[in-house]
Amino acid sequence: MKPIEMKPGIYWVGGIDWDLRNFHGYLTQLGSTYNAYLIVDEKITVVDTVKHYLFDEMMARIKQIVDPEKIDYIISNHVEMDHSGSLLKLKEAAPNAEIISSPFGKRGLLSHFDIKDEIRTVKEGDRISIGKRTLSFHPISMVHWPDSMMTYCPEEKLLLPNDAFGQHIASNERFVDELGFEPVYTEAAKYYANIVFPFGQQVRKALEIASKLETNMIGPSHGLIWRGEDICRIVQAYAKWANYESENKAVIVYDTMWESTHKMAYALMEGFEEAGLKVVIRNLQTNHISDIITDILTARAVCLGSPTLNCTILPTMGGFLSYLKGLSPQKKIGFAFGSYGWGGQGAKELHQFVKDMNWETPFEPVNVQYIPKPEHLAQMKQTGMKLAEIIVEQNAAKAAV
Ligand code: FEO
Repeated sequence: MKPIEMKPGIYWVGGIDWDLRNFHGYLTQLGSTYNAYLIVDEKITVVDTVKHYLFDEMMARIKQIVDPEKIDYIISNHVEMDHSGSLLKLKEAAPNAEIISSPFGKRGLLSHFDIKDEIRTVKEGDRISIGKRTLSFHPISMVHWPDSMMTYCPEEKLLLPNDAFGQHIASNERFVDELGFEPVYTEAAKYYANIVFPFGQQVRKALEIASKLETNMIGPSHGLIWRGEDICRIVQAYAKWANYESENKAVIVYDTMWESTHKMAYALMEGFEEAGLKVVIRNLQTNHISDIITDILTARAVCLGSPTLNCTILPTMGGFLSYLKGLSPQKKIGFAFGSYGWGGQGAKELHQFVKDMNWETPFEPVNVQYIPKPEHLAQMKQTGMKLAEIIVEQNAAKAAV
C-alpha cells in the first residue's frame, strides 16, 4: 500500500487490480491498475482516481503523504468509472477540493454523480498555478471517450494522458524499465488494439498535441509509467498504429464443425509459410477474441473461415465479427473461405463482411461442399502464396515512397 514517489513531491497513489480478468469483453489475463497521481505543492492536486472498490487502497496511499482534507484540486481526465469511480468519495474526504474536467467531462460526471459543487471546466491550453508548478490541460477527444483530456506539468516535463499509452498489467513495479520494455509493449499493443483501435484519427491529433509538450515521463491511467528512451519507443508505436501501418503478416481466424474449414485454414497457412510470410492461425474455440485483435493490429491480411450452420456463419465467428466491426481496423486485405453441406451462405457472408469493412478483396471466397478435395486444398495454398506476394509487393512499394 505504499505510494511511489515518481518525482520529488509527485506520487503514484493508484490501485492495483490483481484479479481483473474481464474488461468489458477484453481478457485482462494480467490484471490491471488504475493510476491516480498526487502532486504536493502549495496547492495539493490529485489527478484521476480508481475503480470504486479500490478507493480504500488509494486513500491509504494518499494518507501517507497528506491529509486528504487538504486536497485543493481533483482533476478528472476521464469520466469512465475505472478512473472516476472513486471521485465522489474522494470529494467527500476533500470537501474544499475543486473538481476540474473538460466540458464533456463535466456533463459525464454530473450524469454519474450527484455533485453539488461547481465543476471547473477547462479547454485546450488552459493552465492553473499550483505553486512552483503549473498544470495545463489538453483535451484528446475519443482517446478514449469524448471527455478525455491530458494533464501536463511543464516544470516537471510530466504528461498524464489517462488511457493513452496504458496497458492492463497488475504489478508491483511502477515503471516500464523495471518490468522490461517488451512485456509492457506487448500489453500496450493489446490495449491499443482493444480500446483505441477505432480512433486512429483522434490518436494522431493527440500525438500532435503531445509532441509540443516536452516530456520525460508519461504516467498513463493503466499499467506502468514510461520514462527515458521508452517514451520515444511507445510514441513511435502509437504513431504506427494510429496510421494503420501493417507488417508483412497475415492472420487466419476460423472455426470449424467437421474439420473441413480447419483443413482449408491450414492449407492457406501453408501457402503463406511457403512464400516466407509471417502468419498466425487462430481457432476461435481456443483463442480469446481480444488476443486475436492484437494479432490483427499489425497484420496486412485478415483471412476469415467458417462453415455454414443454419444458413449463416458459426456463432463464434458471429461474435468475433461483431467485436471486429466495432474496432474498425483499416487498410487491410480480406479473404473469406469455408465449407458447407447445401446452403453455402457462411463464406459468402464473410466475404460480404470484408467488403463492408472496405478492405481490399483481391480474391473471391473459396467455398467447398462437404469435404475439401486435394485440388481445393491446393487452391487454398495457392491463394496464401498469392496473398503473400501482394502483401510484400505493396509494403515494399509503400516503403519506397
Ligand atoms: Fe481506462 Fe476509458 O477508461
